[in-house]
Amino acid sequence: MKMYDTKLLDSSEESIMLAARLLKDGEVVGFPTETVYGLGANAFDGSAVKKIFQAKGRPGDNPLIVHISGFEQLDGLVTEIPALAVKCAKAFWPGPLTMIMPKSDKIPDTTSGGLDTVGIRMPSDKTAGRLISACGFPLAAPSANLSGSPSPTTAQHVFKDMNGRIPAIIDGGFCGVGVESTVISFEGTDGIRLLRPGFVSPEDLREITENVIIDKGVTESLGADAKVRSPGMKYKHYAPKAEITIIDGDLEKFRNYAIKNGNTDTALMIFEKSDAEGIDFPALCCGKTDEEQARNLFDVLRELDNIGVKQAFARCPSKSGVGLAVYNRLLRAAAFRVIKL
Ligand code: TXA
Ligand code: MG
Repeated sequence: MKMYDTKLLDSSEESIMLAARLLKDGEVVGFPTETVYGLGANAFDGSAVKKIFQAKGRPGDNPLIVHISGFEQLDGLVTEIPALAVKCAKAFWPGPLTMIMPKSDKIPDTTSGGLDTVGIRMPSDKTAGRLISACGFPLAAPSANLSGSPSPTTAQHVFKDMNGRIPAIIDGGFCGVGVESTVISFEGTDGIRLLRPGFVSPEDLREITENVIIDKGVTESLGADAKVRSPGMKYKHYAPKAEITIIDGDLEKFRNYAIKNGNTDTALMIFEKSDAEGIDFPALCCGKTDEEQARNLFDVLRELDNIGVKQAFARCPSKSGVGLAVYNRLLRAAAFRVIKL
């Protein structure tokens, strides 16, 4: 792989122009969105997109999301826009929602991972929007982490994973949402299938249609060779080196379990400081609300590696609203180890 002297850029107009120039030349650039940082390339240019897969070490059958900066860009990218998609776009775009639709010939197979569909999203992050507009073409972009690592929520996370692998990263600060976009597909005339939960929650989607199906892969482990509707769901994800176990029970049960089963190589993933009061293990706070937990989760997972513990016990997220997205990511980070107390 070509090695780069990776530059960290600010989000000034000059930096956006420099990044857009690199992207026009077929290079890959790290950029902020409201969810997590993305690794962008020209979605229409198969050989540029191939560099994303190389930089990440991503399996070629895992499709990329195509990012647009205006509604008018959608038309040429898909062959059909379901009526429900129009409703969702009006309600949630720009924002953290990705919609899967039949792809047009303009989208190369490299971008769609060989599928005949494509996931489209219009990010609300201003820097992302300015960058896409400056390019004049949509950006194919996965999360900007090495394949298998926690998604990046700061430019420093991206730098850690991508240093030498890409020419530039735009620093837009800490991502506000913190977990990747909600991914949905459409079934029949009134059905939405939730493939990946995110900040746009099942409850939000039920305001659009009553018929919201939560795909099995959201909370269950799918075998590596399973026929899945969203290829990303079958891969190991977000895994720090520490072995994480989710403790599904109230605070008292969590504390008792930690005291009984922890050792000098244990850390705790808790909601707030007082959860671990009087317990001697390093404790990382994810936050009290679902939204705070979403924002902090990936940073906490990376911090586990920095501390270097062998195991971590995690308090179980709420599993509803934005909490479902936190639970879905944590389940994968924990390789589906859950102890119900
Ligand atoms: O918030 C986000 O979505 C971030 C930022 C950068 O926009 N991007 C992101 O991309 O999370 P990535 O590649 O890490 O995750 C995309 C997920 C994968 O699980 C992939 O399998 C699924 O979306 N996906 C993409 N296109 C699809 C398609 N045509 N059909 C089914 N699943 C698709
Ligand atoms: Mg990802």
